[in-house]
Amino acid sequence: MRGHLLLSFSALLGLAWRSRGSDVDRRAAPADTLLVLTVATKETDGFLRFMQSANYFNYTVKVLGMGEEWKGGDVGRSIGGGQKVRLLKEAMEGLADQEGMVILFLDSYDLVFAGSPDEILRKFQQANHKVLFAAEGLIWPDKRLAEKYPSVRSGKRFLNSGGFIGYAPYINKIVKQWDLHDNDDDQLFYTKVYLDTLQRESLNMTLDHKCQIFQNLNGAIDEVLLKFGTNRVRVRNTMYDTLPVVIHGNINTKIYLNHLANYIPNAWNYEHGCGNCDQNMVDLSQVNEFPVVTVGIFIEQPTPFVPEFFQRLFELDYPKDKLNVFVHNNEVNHERHIQMFWDENKSVFKSFKVVGPEENLSQGEARNMGMDLCRKDSSCDYYFSIDSDVQLTNRQTLKLLIEQNRKIIGPLVTRHGKLWSNFWGALSLDGYYARSEDYIDIVQGKRIGVWNVPFMAHIYLIKGEVLRTEMKERNFFVLEKLDPDMALCRNARELTIQREKDSPSPESFHMLRPPKGLFMYVTNRHEFGRLTSTANYNTSHYNNDLWQIFENPVDWKEKYIHPNYTRIFKENYLEQPCPDVFWFPVFSEKACDELVEEMENFGIWSGGKHEDKRITGGYESVPTDDIHMRQINYEKEWLHFIREFISPVTLKVFSGYYTKGYAVMNFVVKYTPHRQSYLRPHHDSSTFTINIALNNKGLDFQGGGCRFHRYNCTIESPRKGWSFMHPGRLTHLHEGLPTTGGIRYIAVSFIDP
Ligand SMILES: *[C@@H]1O[C@H](CO)[C@@H](O)[C@H](O)[C@H]1NC(C)=O
Ligand SMILES: *[C@@H]1O[C@H](CO)[C@@H](O)[C@H](O)[C@H]1NC(C)=O
Ligand SMILES: *[C@@H]1O[C@H](CO)[C@@H](O)[C@H](O)[C@H]1NC(C)=O
Ligand SMILES: *[C@@H]1O[C@H](CO)[C@@H](O)[C@H](O)[C@H]1NC(C)=O
Ligand SMILES: *[C@@H]1O[C@H](CO)[C@@H](O)[C@H](O)[C@H]1NC(C)=O
Ligand SMILES: *[C@@H]1O[C@H](CO)[C@@H](O)[C@H](O)[C@H]1NC(C)=O
Ligand SMILES: *[C@@H]1O[C@H](CO)[C@@H](O)[C@H](O)[C@H]1NC(C)=O
Repeated sequence: MRGHLLLSFSALLGLAWRSRGSDVDRRAAPADTLLVLTVATKETDGFLRFMQSANYFNYTVKVLGMGEEWKGGDVGRSIGGGQKVRLLKEAMEGLADQEGMVILFLDSYDLVFAGSPDEILRKFQQANHKVLFAAEGLIWPDKRLAEKYPSVRSGKRFLNSGGFIGYAPYINKIVKQWDLHDNDDDQLFYTKVYLDTLQRESLNMTLDHKCQIFQNLNGAIDEVLLKFGTNRVRVRNTMYDTLPVVIHGNINTKIYLNHLANYIPNAWNYEHGCGNCDQNMVDLSQVNEFPVVTVGIFIEQPTPFVPEFFQRLFELDYPKDKLNVFVHNNEVNHERHIQMFWDENKSVFKSFKVVGPEENLSQGEARNMGMDLCRKDSSCDYYFSIDSDVQLTNRQTLKLLIEQNRKIIGPLVTRHGKLWSNFWGALSLDGYYARSEDYIDIVQGKRIGVWNVPFMAHIYLIKGEVLRTEMKERNFFVLEKLDPDMALCRNARELTIQREKDSPSPESFHMLRPPKGLFMYVTNRHEFGRLTSTANYNTSHYNNDLWQIFENPVDWKEKYIHPNYTRIFKENYLEQPCPDVFWFPVFSEKACDELVEEMENFGIWSGGKHEDKRITGGYESVPTDDIHMRQINYEKEWLHFIREFISPVTLKVFSGYYTKGYAVMNFVVKYTPHRQSYLRPHHDSSTFTINIALNNKGLDFQGGGCRFHRYNCTIESPRKGWSFMHPGRLTHLHEGLPTTGGIRYIAVSFIDP
């Protein structure tokens, strides 16, 4: 049996982690015992992750320095290298005589375990030294010392003090020599001990040249790959063909470490999927009162489907009296949409505040204003930021995000059918988008989990407490010349526990430990919604969304196609009121209303005259009072609508007849008793005709209807949004019956062939 020290971290973390025996490993248990010592003054996200991986493998960990003040000049970016040695020195005093105790000393903010304590002990014993330091290919901090290093035939030559392992008495012999300041460099101190030949020999000290135990990622990203196993994921060093146990994202490799740690040791694998998604969740069904959320809504550019955006927000399954709503609208065009929402619904929310285009706020200022509302309000539990191009189709989104319980988390949203999403899996060298190897799998839902990512935007939830502590006192949306969302992410990633007063000089930078950033997560554990495209949004019409059939086809269909349209194909949901006159639902209420509005907004009705310059020949024998789709620039979109939504019906009712939707005449007709109220019997110049009722008999007009003479068949009550489809010539002589009151509108296409 191996001895165990009491775990002190579960109490420290306030998490329900239990001390577990590690004697389950059936391989020959080494006689030595292993104690992990680490220094952390704050429970950063990186520290919590370190502890999670330690816990997973049942390491015995003792945390030094928790809650201590920073010491030394560069504490903003480091925990004070020397401070770490001092703390270790103090801790070792009581362990100096523990012959069989092996000490593993590690950084914790940027490090994860990929293997077990037994494996480390075995590898350490095989190394046959008393003290073993991590190695790396780059020398730091003093390049002039390079020649003093023993040469190695293969492997990494230089010492890295982010991780080392050794027998307690020997570690003690090293650190008790420390008499420098907390802000002196720890790595230089250990390097000098190592480079002293006498000490190196008497302390029986060496480096882990081939990454048997320690993998520093700096300068070595190209050497490592993920190695997926059935229960566990590791990192393989392909240069030395080793499976290192401790993975260290030193210097500028934090983002890559975050990527690796999305998998190792048990975060995700092919067999079991996400291994830690359910950790530390909160259960909202168990709370008496829901958390208060400030919702920041940003309309920063003309955006399609804004009314639908508000509707979905309204439909979120969350008590509205717990929601403070802040809207920044930068677009005059959208003021009427907000007004509609505000008029009807502002009073149901806890509060509702709108800042309009007249304030002339920059995007960064506006986003900061929203965030500040939560930050400065101690009752605000969460800040939920959402841009108007996010259509949240999952009503549970807010609850699901809260329950996932992360400091910063966003739901994955993507452009329908595209690889475009609201996160980046990796960054290029200049800080912009780079595709991580798992990006496509995550976007397409082939890998499901909660992913630590370097960039996300459009929609995210941040804990109010985090805004008031780690993220306080700063405008996170301003950084150099970056876009506000990029500034936010970089500020969060590179967040330091205290801001350094002067930015470090390039020379001092390397010496400082990497910053202790906040993790940003994106979850794709559920389907949450989609991103609309704001490209090619022409705002010169009255109802601009009508034109979105190409750019945002899913949203267009949802808004403008009749909810029962698909039943035509599934359930034969259509009627035949007269022979070969088919009748089916195609347009939604909104499509009808907006098309009529659009025509009335255009306003130039033809007047039903025989002379018509709009058509070839200039003469119309059976003229209607109408406006052509082409006149409002809607021809292209209308023909596409016919191809997408009429052709399938044609194919169904006129078996084998597929129309490419070639239609020369597409128009909206207006019948009123005072202008033109009816249309005499006629044939259409079409193979077949569609005729869509755009408003309601009885409500909007009286009379109306259509009569087919050959069959002595009259349809008296057209239904709004429903279309007739009938042959145009020969058999289907028809007339438009008089509209006796109000105004009747229909949309007509002569489709040929
Ligand atoms: C850690 O300990 C627990 C409880 O003894 C055991 O179930 C688990 O398998 C151990 N984990 C590892 C990775 O050995
Ligand atoms: C280091 O110690 C081991 C025993 O732990 C011994 O076998 C080895 O020879 C020593 N190496 C040196 C360089 O002293
Ligand atoms: C206002 O609230 C009602 C429910 O009370 C909802 O149906 C309606 O869609 C909301 N209005 C807007 C513009 O979202
Ligand atoms: C809006 O702000 C920009 C820059 O902040 C400034 O150039 C512009 O003149 C302002 N416009 C108005 C109408 O105040
Ligand atoms: C936007 O629509 C207007 C009115 O229909 C049209 O004149 C203009 O050419 C369109 N602009 C673009 C970029 O398509
Ligand atoms: C769709 O069909 C169902 C069942 O016939 C009906 O109750 C419902 O009102 C229809 N929806 C619309 C928008 O007409
Ligand atoms: C047409 O139908 C109506 C009733 O549906 C009937 O009264 C009338 O006689 C019919 N006319 C012819 C010519 O069949």
